[in-house]
Amino acid sequence: YGDYNQKIDYVFKVVLIGDSAVGKSQLLARFARNEFSVDSKATIGVEFQTKTLSIDHKTVKAQIWDTAGQERYRAVTSAYYRGAVGAMLVYDMTKGHADKNIVIMLIGNKCDLGSLRAVPTEDAQEFAQRENLFFMETSALEATNVETAFLT
Ligand code: GTP
Ligand code: MG
Repeated sequence: YGDYNQKIDYVFKVVLIGDSAVGKSQLLARFARNEFSVDSKATIGVEFQTKTLSIDHKTVKAQIWDTAGQERYRAVTSAYYRGAVGAMLVYDMTKGHADKNIVIMLIGNKCDLGSLRAVPTEDAQEFAQRENLFFMETSALEATNVETAFLT
């Protein structure tokens, strides 16, 4: 326990996110304890570790939250994004899933709830353009653009 008596200038919360088995927990083990395990167990829910660092003469306590990538924990883990000032999105560079010519459409759903809109159409449109995605706003409830989206 090396950091007792130390004045902490900043506490920064960072979350590790990404699919299961991409190596989030082992990245954190390497960073926090300089350890690595070949037979790492899948994370259940969320775990966290801290590491105190000296950066620009300030003492920074990094509080790193390691989330489970397995789909069934998604609802739990996203609750831990609150208050995070950083996120590391991790992927496994040995895995390629889809066809390289895949056509992706970004769908902003629930457009029937217009008064609760938090993402402006133009923002999504701009993002889609930049990322080379088709884009459509839909409502499954009101059957808006559903047919068009699938047919496109
Ligand atoms: P979840 O907790 O289910 O979300 O998975 P995770 O992303 O935390 O994966 P984890 O760190 O448990 O690693 C999964 C597997 O990949 C383990 O067998 C690790 O040993 C292996 N692994 C992790 N990082 C590396 C790496 O940099 N290189 C190699 N070769 N294997 C790695
Ligand atoms: Mg893990």
